[in-house]
Amino acid sequence: MPYYSDDQIEEVRTANDIVDVVSSYVALKKKGSQYMGLCPFHNEKTPSFSVSRDKQMYYCFGCGAGGNVFTFLMQYENDSFVEAVEALAGRAGIALPKQEASGRARQEADRRMRVLEANKAAGRYFYAQLRMAQGQAGMEYFTKRGISREAMKKFGLGFANGASNDLYLYLCKEGFGDDILKDSGLVTIDERRGGRDKFWNRAMFPIMDVNHRVIGFGGRVIGEGEPKYLNSPETIVFDKSKNLYGMNLAKSSRRPYILLCEGYMDVIALHQAGFDNAVASLGTSFTQGHAAVLKRYTKEVYCTFDSDSAGVKAALRAIPILKEAGITVKIVDMKPYKDPDEFIKAEGAEKYQERIGQAQNSFLFEVEMLEREYDLRDPTEKTSFYYAIAEKILGFGEELERENYIEAVASKYQTGFENLRKLVQSAGMKAGTAREGKKLKSGVQEKKKKKGDGMRQSQRLMLTWLIEEPRLFSVIEPLIGPEDFTEELYRRAADVVFQQWREGQINPAKVVDMFTDGQDQQEIAGLFHARLKEVGTQAEREKALKETIIRLKENSVGFRSKHLEPSDLDGLQRLVAEKKSLQQLYQMEFSLPEPGNPGLG
Ligand code: UTP
Ligand code: MN
Repeated sequence: MPYYSDDQIEEVRTANDIVDVVSSYVALKKKGSQYMGLCPFHNEKTPSFSVSRDKQMYYCFGCGAGGNVFTFLMQYENDSFVEAVEALAGRAGIALPKQEASGRARQEADRRMRVLEANKAAGRYFYAQLRMAQGQAGMEYFTKRGISREAMKKFGLGFANGASNDLYLYLCKEGFGDDILKDSGLVTIDERRGGRDKFWNRAMFPIMDVNHRVIGFGGRVIGEGEPKYLNSPETIVFDKSKNLYGMNLAKSSRRPYILLCEGYMDVIALHQAGFDNAVASLGTSFTQGHAAVLKRYTKEVYCTFDSDSAGVKAALRAIPILKEAGITVKIVDMKPYKDPDEFIKAEGAEKYQERIGQAQNSFLFEVEMLEREYDLRDPTEKTSFYYAIAEKILGFGEELERENYIEAVASKYQTGFENLRKLVQSAGMKAGTAREGKKLKSGVQEKKKKKGDGMRQSQRLMLTWLIEEPRLFSVIEPLIGPEDFTEELYRRAADVVFQQWREGQINPAKVVDMFTDGQDQQEIAGLFHARLKEVGTQAEREKALKETIIRLKENSVGFRSKHLEPSDLDGLQRLVAEKKSLQQLYQMEFSLPEPGNPGLG
């Protein structure tokens, strides 16, 4: 993975004004010192998305999304940090240095790059063929299947004609050697007969990775024939267990969930109908690798598989893998149609959207499928069925969740709630997983949590004071230091803010870059956009600040006396001194500089 220095990153950031960058995605209107618009990260009718040119940051008061220009691209395009840096460097015409790599790693990278180039060239070739006389059969086929010109272009569809080595000859002419072509899986090289194309007479679907690079192909036979789809083999650039067809497009969808289907044609039909969040795992069975990719982009997946038994089997396989990855799963019913492609053709997008709305909870789907294995008229089988359900319910970690599912199943199968609950308990005993005390959260824990929240809040507030009212720094600095922030995240932010202060200027967007985790960045961005409550008079402001300082200091002293090693004499001495100064703090009169006095800043 490439790595850029802080200076390079800062150069790229300062070359890309956030208002300009965001404006190319979101319509912004100037309002006072901010620019406001409709938040692209949640649905809203009145603008609560603000962008600040001074701070070079954005923040949504509605959903809490926030960060700097890199974060924006990461959130909007689902880019990684490095991808965002590279994209913005490109936008500003900054040449980033090529990354150094060891000899072997570089060779490997070169080989990958050449195979990607060969795939791209092949994609272009198939694409051009489709639009020529020799591609007429392909064009007719796609058209007959209702694919629009626009969708053909979006998915880069093409055609492999009937000649047995025309692609091979073309790629040779383009400068690719036999070694690379063999690696690409596009041709086979025979000692005596030379190169032969893998795909002939097929409608071609390029498969792209999330960065829009062609990594392989699927080729559909025109009409009937075996195999229906022929796919590129796995290569150094094509790992079938980690790539989903359509993910390169779906990753930028504004919809908050992903539609997971089985085939190329389903994905294309769905995108064409406006469901730009559809992807497919392409014949290979669904893997943890696929789930990990999905997890990067969404928390919720709707399985919209074929309605036949293979589709049910695929769903039953995918559900636990998705759940394991922390994704919520719902099942969309395509009956009486075979698959999403046919459904859309017959019923249209609106009806499909309705089916999404009616999608079934994955657990209840599993139970329903389980039911098919038992004859519920037979008392013994019925008992076994309930026992099997009970075992499944045990899989939920939260008591409340278990109770909810017990209730749902009990009402669906008209059996007693208590009976089913007992069954779950006894299944738990057997499995040895029914843990006492892991029931609903106790009141004590709730209280503890509240207190923690209060401490976090005063640390947050203090940072906001420091950032928003720089003239306070001279008052605060002798009393509070970064070490008084006991929350790891706030401590790190305070370190940077105090440091920038001493250097004479607060640079909010730079602070955000010190945090790599998206959640952290968002929280820090929130700090910089929080508004201090308009506390009326000067005296009231002084009182509010004093209270915040005292709360922070009390917490910090308390925290450190709890975590102090008895042998740490220096620490003990400092603590005693601080406790004393805390006493003084209670007595102290605060006087704030009048507004308009710029203080240090
Ligand atoms: P389907 O047969 O459901 O595909 O197989 P489909 O997209 O609906 O096909 P059409 O509508 O008849 O054109 C689902 C997926 O399984 C893979 C393909 O990725 C296909 O899209 N598959 C299927 C193969 O790889 N090889 C095959 O021979 C068949
Ligand atoms: Mn189909």
